[in-house]
Amino acid sequence: MNTRIGDLMATRQRLLGRNLSVAYEKPLYIVRGSMQYLYDDERRRYLDGYNNVAHVGHCHPKVVAAGQRQMERLNTNTRYLSELILEYAEKLTATLPESLSVCFFVNSGSEANELAIRLARAHTKARDMIVLEHAYHGNTTTLIDLSPYKHHGRGGEGAPAWVHTARLPASVADAQHVIEIVQKLDAPLCGFIAESMPSVAGQIVLPDGYLNQVYDAVRGAGGVCIADEVQTGFGRIGTHFYAFEKYGVVPDIVVLGKPIGNGHPLGAVITTRRIAESFDNGMEFFSTFGGNNVSCAIGLKVLEVVHEESLQTHALKVGEHLLAGLHELDQRHEVIREIRGSGFFLGVELVEEASCVVNQMRERGILMGTEGPRHNVIKIRPPMPFTDSDADQLVQTLDEVLSRG
Ligand SMILES: Cc1ncc(COP(=O)(O)O)c(C=O)c1O
Repeated sequence: MNTRIGDLMATRQRLLGRNLSVAYEKPLYIVRGSMQYLYDDERRRYLDGYNNVAHVGHCHPKVVAAGQRQMERLNTNTRYLSELILEYAEKLTATLPESLSVCFFVNSGSEANELAIRLARAHTKARDMIVLEHAYHGNTTTLIDLSPYKHHGRGGEGAPAWVHTARLPASVADAQHVIEIVQKLDAPLCGFIAESMPSVAGQIVLPDGYLNQVYDAVRGAGGVCIADEVQTGFGRIGTHFYAFEKYGVVPDIVVLGKPIGNGHPLGAVITTRRIAESFDNGMEFFSTFGGNNVSCAIGLKVLEVVHEESLQTHALKVGEHLLAGLHELDQRHEVIREIRGSGFFLGVELVEEASCVVNQMRERGILMGTEGPRHNVIKIRPPMPFTDSDADQLVQTLDEVLSRG
């Protein structure tokens, strides 16, 4: 470890909460980002294969300029009239099915999920929720209760009585587990929350037909269906703009975060008129920073860039090229158990822990992460400008690393 990194680590240990983790055995000191690349203090370039927050690219010049322009003019809250927030709400709802027509803006995925739960409770007057095994929905008290990945993990205290955990489905027949939970409930159902492609659980693709049956069962019991699209939204999966669209379902509440601000703290909840009306019960909703002028200017620009640069189509095309390369590795490396996903939402499941592989990739200049309850899934979720030649470099390097054993 160079001395600068050693100093930073020691100061961090002293000044910051120790349960903030650091990626990789050899910590990275990243000082600059540009599109799909990150640069360390020694000017070494890393190909970013997993930071999905920088959706349209690290420090995308158009997004930076839009933020800077608005920062020079005005940045205040939603209690003043502004066209920006309306234009953003209009353009955002245009990406969603017609029934999802009312927006709320907050500052993170956690805040957005937290608000989604408040909306669901206001609408159903119920509390009990169904979640999927290994799910993660955010860092607040309520969301830790709704996140088996946290409350069933180290330091967790298990699920509270109002949270019911459904099996991560291996086939459409597993919808029956949700149906059984619904049938056995002894309290009214508030709703079901899930990522439409569970990421933290290991880059999982839900079986076709599963969400349809689950949504029907939940709605049949008076509950609402919340799609957490924090990781999967905005064209990442290539085939669709949102992952729920892949299954032909329409949620009652959609939650957005990470990519929509390209790194600027921005979260959104979009719901139906009826649910928004239930929430409008006399109590004011206000978020000091949520929906401020700068956030809206940035959000609008990110959305514009996604469309202008055809990033969804790009993710599909380059994702297919990347998948072909990974499948070819699968033929030759027994350590690979399964390759799944689409577009720029891919997982390489290994038969053993993946952290060693990911650390060796980092040594070779490619950044990837691990997911899944056994940390044996390599997650590939690059910034969307990732190219065919980046994909070739990733596959070739992974080949070298896996060949070394
Ligand atoms: C699926 C999902 N939902 C919600 C969140 C919480 O978002 P944030 O960290 O912006 O609060 C995350 C963060 O990792 C996430 O992966």
